[in-house]
Amino acid sequence: MATIRDVAKQAGVSIATVSRVINNKGKIKQETETTVREAIKKLNYIPNKVAQGLSNQRSNAVAFILPSISNPFFPEMARAVEDVAQQHGYHVFICNTDDKREKVLNYLDNLATHYVDGIILNSHIIKEADLEKLRNNNISIVMMDRVLEHEETTAFAVKNRAGGRKATEHLLDVGCKRVAHISGVTDIPTAQDRMWGYLDVVGTLPWYDTSYISRSDFTVEGGYQAAKELFMRHPEVDGIFAGNDLMAIGALRAAHEWGKAIPNELAIVGFDGIDMSALTTPPMTTVQQPIYELGELAMKELLGHMNDEAYEAKTVNLDVELIIRETTMRTQQN
Ligand code: RIB
Repeated sequence: MATIRDVAKQAGVSIATVSRVINNKGKIKQETETTVREAIKKLNYIPNKVAQGLSNQRSNAVAFILPSISNPFFPEMARAVEDVAQQHGYHVFICNTDDKREKVLNYLDNLATHYVDGIILNSHIIKEADLEKLRNNNISIVMMDRVLEHEETTAFAVKNRAGGRKATEHLLDVGCKRVAHISGVTDIPTAQDRMWGYLDVVGTLPWYDTSYISRSDFTVEGGYQAAKELFMRHPEVDGIFAGNDLMAIGALRAAHEWGKAIPNELAIVGFDGIDMSALTTPPMTTVQQPIYELGELAMKELLGHMNDEAYEAKTVNLDVELIIRETTMRTQQN
């Protein structure tokens, strides 16, 4: 396979000149550039992106570290990151961590020493000290969704607590008398904030106690099991706010198995607004996150940071929207 040295020899120029042509850097006579490009074509030379990155400290690649590739929320977010990255000539490495700290640290160690110019981080198990190594290697960082509150790192998230309130208020507004909550993993800030939003609405009502909260894990199976627990513990429950759409889908399955009429005997609201939430039977009411916009904003911010534009760390919390579908369109008040 031809090397940069072969190209330089073929074109009768120095290796540095070939490198400048490949990287579009520095002033080069048009005649020289043409000669070099002809040599590249003749020899079918393919620049080694990694070597190229190492030589001029740029790889034109970024990484998106995310909690779970099997939850549709994150691939929908990755779509936006990749669209913006590719529009600006960047490749994206998708790094699935399964929310395991050792996997996150392994990715950070590998990414810190090569291959990427920037990282978008979506992980609640990161600590500020973990990011120091990245900063020391001049790697730009933007956090998204599950964010670490830190003055040095820009973060994009949504108003989770307000979204939890919207979901719970909606269930009471449609006539539910006893509203329960299925929470995500409660050491995840997004899950915690949604649960606080639920408690803001029902926490002081006379009937409420903590047994109306069933803790789960953001999965369909987890939501299914949590809903069955609630049905046994509180058969009077006629409304459920689930902390994400996958758990709401699991709760819907449990409700069908228990013969509960949706929404008149049991109304359900999810959170995220993944495409699948519109495809359930009946279609799911949910709190829609601006998933694509989050990914778009995070990648655009990272581009600015990587290209040394004036960089001012900030935290941006976007609004969420209640999308009302049939799992809460009750036709009769019990
Ligand atoms: O569905 C997965 C959840 O984890 C989403 O709600 C997202 O906000 C992330 O925190």
